[in-house]
Amino acid sequence: MGVKIFEKEKQFHLFNSKISYLIGECRDGEIGQIYFGKRINENQIILGYQTLAGRPYCNPAEYDESYTKELACLEYPAFGNGDMRGSAYEIRQANGSRVTNLVYKSHVVYEGKKPIPGLPASYVNTDSEATTLEIRCVDEVAKVEVTLYYTIFEDYSIITRHVSFKNVGNEEVKLTKALSCCIDLPDHEYDLMQFEGAWGRERYPHVRSIEKGIISIESMRGHSSANFNPFVIMKRRNTDEFQGEAIGIHLVYSGNFIAKAEVDNFDKLRFTMGINPNWFVWPLDKGEVFDTPEVIISYTKEGLNDLSQNIHKFMNNNLVRSPYKNKPRPILLNNWEATEMNFDEGKIINIAKKGKEAGIELFVLDDGWFGKRNDDRAGLGDWFANTDKLPDGITGLAKKINDLGMDFGLWIEPEMVNPDSDLYRAHPDWVLAVPDRRRTLGRHQMVLDFSKPEVVDNVYYHLYDIISTANISYIKWDMNRSITECFSQGVAPEYQGMVYHKYILGVYSLYERLIKDFPHILFESCASGGGRFDAGMLYYAPQAWCSDDTDGHERVKIQYGTSYGYPLVSMGSHVSASPNGQTGRVMAINDRANIAYFGTFGYELDLNEVSEEDFEQVKNQVVFMKKYRGLFQYGTLYRLQSPFEKNYASWMVVSEDKKQAIVVMYKGLNTQNTEVEYIKLQGLEPDTVYTINDNEKMYGDFLMERGLGTLGWNEPWYRSGKDFTSRMFILNAE
Ligand code: DGJ
Repeated sequence: MGVKIFEKEKQFHLFNSKISYLIGECRDGEIGQIYFGKRINENQIILGYQTLAGRPYCNPAEYDESYTKELACLEYPAFGNGDMRGSAYEIRQANGSRVTNLVYKSHVVYEGKKPIPGLPASYVNTDSEATTLEIRCVDEVAKVEVTLYYTIFEDYSIITRHVSFKNVGNEEVKLTKALSCCIDLPDHEYDLMQFEGAWGRERYPHVRSIEKGIISIESMRGHSSANFNPFVIMKRRNTDEFQGEAIGIHLVYSGNFIAKAEVDNFDKLRFTMGINPNWFVWPLDKGEVFDTPEVIISYTKEGLNDLSQNIHKFMNNNLVRSPYKNKPRPILLNNWEATEMNFDEGKIINIAKKGKEAGIELFVLDDGWFGKRNDDRAGLGDWFANTDKLPDGITGLAKKINDLGMDFGLWIEPEMVNPDSDLYRAHPDWVLAVPDRRRTLGRHQMVLDFSKPEVVDNVYYHLYDIISTANISYIKWDMNRSITECFSQGVAPEYQGMVYHKYILGVYSLYERLIKDFPHILFESCASGGGRFDAGMLYYAPQAWCSDDTDGHERVKIQYGTSYGYPLVSMGSHVSASPNGQTGRVMAINDRANIAYFGTFGYELDLNEVSEEDFEQVKNQVVFMKKYRGLFQYGTLYRLQSPFEKNYASWMVVSEDKKQAIVVMYKGLNTQNTEVEYIKLQGLEPDTVYTINDNEKMYGDFLMERGLGTLGWNEPWYRSGKDFTSRMFILNAE
């Protein structure tokens, strides 16, 4: 693993045992892309790289008529200098020009990886895990230095990239676009897989063909959003779960973003991704530096399961920072769907007690505990306990929960304020809003201006008071509306283009302070369900609430879709009441649990209200989860049958040593006399005998080549009218 450098040709080959990433200086000094894919011989060099027969039509360079940028594959291209495709960056200079041309100046290679100041990023546990290449380029006219950062990790088919800009001149320049990467590929025979949806329907995969022209997805909501996730896959047209080439790209960022695939008239594909340049203007004064967020670029030639497995392991080992990293997550009970904001201490203790009886480890108090918060019209911003509901405050309640033998967790929504709150009355200029203009209220609340350090400080001090005086071991950090009227009051006009990005930097800084002060706390991020489920958030909060839709049937799709880009252990998944609060669907408690096990696992209902029979099941489920949670949360995931294609869905997890596996099959509507399907399992040891549910024995190769049959699926229920059912198989090696 490492970087092989050809000094004379200025070519750089990043490689490990699985992948190669080969880039080099083009004829005009710009850095170009040569190859990205399966590992090739590290001695490969391309002589006369990108000597292209440019016709006058193709904007050949004045200094060299045989070279044109229009046909080149470039690493960090500009617009306006001969390349007619979308650019990766744009710098508005003092004279109004936006034309730039980056030229290679120097490079450095070292073991390990540096953090990116103020931003989330993947990291190394020991320097020997990764090698970093920094290539310094300069635009001599604009007087801007641009450093391209590349890190290759030894154990993963992954390259990370980011870019930093430095003003090395005397005059201010303005960055109006600063994307994190450009991936120029020599052909466009790919499909784009995006993960899209809405509130309650997050991260549904959608595949479309990449053709001539431009397709893009983006967020301008101020958060990464439920609508489009900042993770995409470009896959070969015939790639499926089990074979074929694919490239995954995550933006490690939680604010506005764009991902764009462009095919030019020469059939080359340019993919770019980064902070959305819309409304982005970042002034850079003499000596100032701007860092883009990181992208994680993953590669496989062995199908989408392999791509996801690689990503899951990488995120668990090199992105998540928490005492809970690679540790089992506590089984929790959250009161939101049981009470919403209508509770008092007695009611809460009553719910928690029943949870304790079931063996649940952590009780989480959700929204409604502070200020005058009895509905969603008031109280946000006033971070002191409502003593009408909780006479002994959070400190007292936490103690009472601890005395029951459970840990205590708390919900917060630090970025928001209700107009009906003491905080807003004291500081009406602390919200994002344009004076004299009508405002958009989402859930009757406004967004605090986290681009201002004094606002973040104020929220921090109040939260610090609460957290430091109570025994809190978990925090659910919510964010329940998008940003509109993005305007920072009292700030000079030329800084308004910084607000969206500064806002998210403010969010990151508050996370960082709280993590530093309270390193033992397990954070779960949330944004009206899964509206900010992204790699940036996972750096601070190792788990994220997947969706407000807790219906088991819907969760099959949401969690299946999420698993393409994010590890099982990052997915907040709970068993809630039946009929379900969002869809009204009725589903048996074991079927609900069979889906929720594949995540952090917990309950979101009042267990006092379930039947005795169901409560017995809950107790069994908690015991079962405690026994198998290592496998559910950290086992190697194989998606076997997609719920987006059929009435059936199935997936499985396999232990590292392949001695244990759990398979779940899910069926939507009940059917009569259906065809029998055999689900071919994956990842088992071919010559090992596995006992299935302590009963039948089968060889690994039989299970993988013939498969587990759906035969008998209807038997117990065929006239029961039961839809939305599941079966679970525990496989143990002999
Ligand atoms: C949205 C979250 O997704 C819910 O789980 C809950 O915490 C509510 N907000 C509380 O307002």
